[in-house]
Amino acid sequence: MFVMRRRAFISTGIAGLGVSALVGCTTSETTTGPQGGGSAAAGPEQEAKSVPGGAGGKVGVFTWWADGSEKLGLEALQKEFKSQFGKDEFVNLAVAGGAGSNAKAKLASDLANNNPPDSFQGHAGAELLDYIGKDQIVPVDDVIADLGGSDVFPQNLLDRITVKGSIYSVPSNIHRANVVWANVEVLEKAGVGDPPTDLAGWLDAMDAVKSSGVSTPLATGGSWTQVHLFETVLLSTLGADGYSALFEPGAKWDSAEVTQAADSYKSMLEFANTASDGDDWPPATDAVIAGKAAYNVMGDWAVAEFTSKKQKEGTDYTYFPVPGTDGVFDFLADSFTLPRGANNPAGAKDWLMLVGSAEGQLAFNLAKGSIPARTDVAADEFPAYQQSAMESFKSDTIVSSIAHGAAVNQAWLSEITTAISKFYGSKDTATLVEDLAAAADKNAG
Ligand code: GAL
Repeated sequence: MFVMRRRAFISTGIAGLGVSALVGCTTSETTTGPQGGGSAAAGPEQEAKSVPGGAGGKVGVFTWWADGSEKLGLEALQKEFKSQFGKDEFVNLAVAGGAGSNAKAKLASDLANNNPPDSFQGHAGAELLDYIGKDQIVPVDDVIADLGGSDVFPQNLLDRITVKGSIYSVPSNIHRANVVWANVEVLEKAGVGDPPTDLAGWLDAMDAVKSSGVSTPLATGGSWTQVHLFETVLLSTLGADGYSALFEPGAKWDSAEVTQAADSYKSMLEFANTASDGDDWPPATDAVIAGKAAYNVMGDWAVAEFTSKKQKEGTDYTYFPVPGTDGVFDFLADSFTLPRGANNPAGAKDWLMLVGSAEGQLAFNLAKGSIPARTDVAADEFPAYQQSAMESFKSDTIVSSIAHGAAVNQAWLSEITTAISKFYGSKDTATLVEDLAAAADKNAG
């Protein structure tokens, strides 16, 4: 029964264009790389003689994909980059720590000191606006146009990286934040069947898991993972419209609904392990793999962790939308920028062309657990989870993630994180709501 519900959630894959049909579209006339473009017309001898492409020189790329399955994603891109732009030398500037928990501070200081990388990872939406507002990145409309513009990127995504008519980054992927990852055996042992449809039902299921002998049914990590969990509780409680209204100018957070979300969040933490502030997401996901917890709420980069640990979907682990958020896609997208003053802007554009190409997106997203930002990469190249996410992204209501730079800028996120972190110690919901309301009053405009 439980598996059948999961099947309903993952729905079937969609047909798309074959990636091979797109190879020629990825060639930039403004870069020197062959990238496979035009190779359909080339004979075998010509192909054998093709010289490595690219502007040449070192290309320093800054991310927080330094460990585990995230590193595998970056390596997949790096491999493609090497094969398409062999003259360029990829320099890995990754700083460990999920959600950029350490990386963003280092990046901010490098940018402030006029020592930018050649390209860095930034979230589409409010976070990108920070860099644009500080004039730290330059438009990349030419790259987006060479990649196919709105023919290949969804307009609602381009809108989130466009300011005053200019596009400021190249999206590499789309992640979904409101996913529960669960251990099938633990749930079966506890007699928990269908995924719960609301938070109250989910708390009952956690109670059943606890009674079956698993002392911490819900796995959590440090403060950013708590913000991530809390945003999904807000979404479940307020619904998509109410949640999205929280980011409108003048939004009021000191409401009965936000208080209700804070109360539910508090109840959920009673079923969770004790985490330290710096605890990253993989140990929380691994606790589900080990059967030490039944559930972890995490973005769908978690599916890459399950895969890298040889876990089988359906028998070892399963997934479903955070109860009460079915039909809503809590969205975030990674994208890559061209910093003002980059040492090697031509090499950086090679990197951006690769990140935005169909081949780059296929290789990267297969490894990363996300779905391509491009709409023309074939869904059937992907495992079931990603196929379900592609389908959901097309049909669900899209809302923006708080924890991952889509809904709020860095200053606001930092205040939300402080409030959530303080709450973790105090468990004082009234103060949490007050702190969140104060942060909104200061930042919502
Ligand atoms: C997000 C990022 C994802 C993933 C995650 C965990 O902010 O967009 O790609 O890296 O953090 O580190």
